[in-house]
Amino acid sequence: MNIEPSGATLGAIVTDIDLRTLNEESFAEVEAAWDQYGVLVFADQHLSDEEHLTFTRLFGRLEAGLKRSAGGTGLGRITNVKADGSVAEPDSLQVRFHQGNLRWHSDSSYKCVGAKASILAAHVVPETGGETEWADMRAAYDELDDDLKNYLEDKIAVHSYRYSHSWHGGLEIIGKEDLEELPPVEHPVVRAHPRTGRRNLFVGRHASHIIGADEEESRALLKRLTEEGAQAPRTWKHRWRPGDIGVWDNRCVLHRGHDWPLDQPRVMVRSTVAGETPDNPWVLDEAV
Ligand code: OGA
Ligand code: MN
Repeated sequence: MNIEPSGATLGAIVTDIDLRTLNEESFAEVEAAWDQYGVLVFADQHLSDEEHLTFTRLFGRLEAGLKRSAGGTGLGRITNVKADGSVAEPDSLQVRFHQGNLRWHSDSSYKCVGAKASILAAHVVPETGGETEWADMRAAYDELDDDLKNYLEDKIAVHSYRYSHSWHGGLEIIGKEDLEELPPVEHPVVRAHPRTGRRNLFVGRHASHIIGADEEESRALLKRLTEEGAQAPRTWKHRWRPGDIGVWDNRCVLHRGHDWPLDQPRVMVRSTVAGETPDNPWVLDEAV
């Protein structure tokens, strides 16, 4: 396998590898690179949905999607293409819902256990735009001055689906029953990565405010930490090609999507690896 670092503090493109044929040894190499780079994009894979899920399970257990009451396979489609094959209207709920992805976030941080990994495969890409960008929140933490590091060390933030999804149709799309399973949750602002031990800033658009601090002021601080953290050289933007598959570590990396001309189709398929807490209620299956 050939690893080409992005040049930013995170991210690399991996070639000369076939994700269908990984064994214990080659997966250990992938995992070590993932720990180092936080995001890996494997070029030219063209995985079927089944192969995508098999690859996902190498990282851990699948996380259930938002519309859990409707069941699900562990794969979600992030797309502006409707079930009948036509491109959805820009003001449709389907398109509006995904607009939330354009702001920096860590997947599922509004759940009591956030996601470990997200695995996104490019199936159909627009002629321009539609990139995904990642931000290295380990390097962002390292950049803080000692006073701010000390202040943040024991702070807990409230992350809330209602807070981050009200404005663009996120409440309409999932329905009351599933919404009730998403009360506000608490996560430390500074977390050490379970494998590398590196501290990072766990912020992003679902983080509403800090417990015990003024709500407006702490909201502004969380936004500032996100915005200032997500600056060069800590960001990497990837322009997708069909067949690419990207894997990012939600425990230390933020990401966002970029707009594209909405009359053009974009079809991405995503799976999510559940956070590794033993009693994570969002685990979809027990298969590893
Ligand atoms: C996601 C996401 C951004 C994009 O899949 O979780 O935020 O570029 N995607 O599609
Ligand atoms: Mn996302």
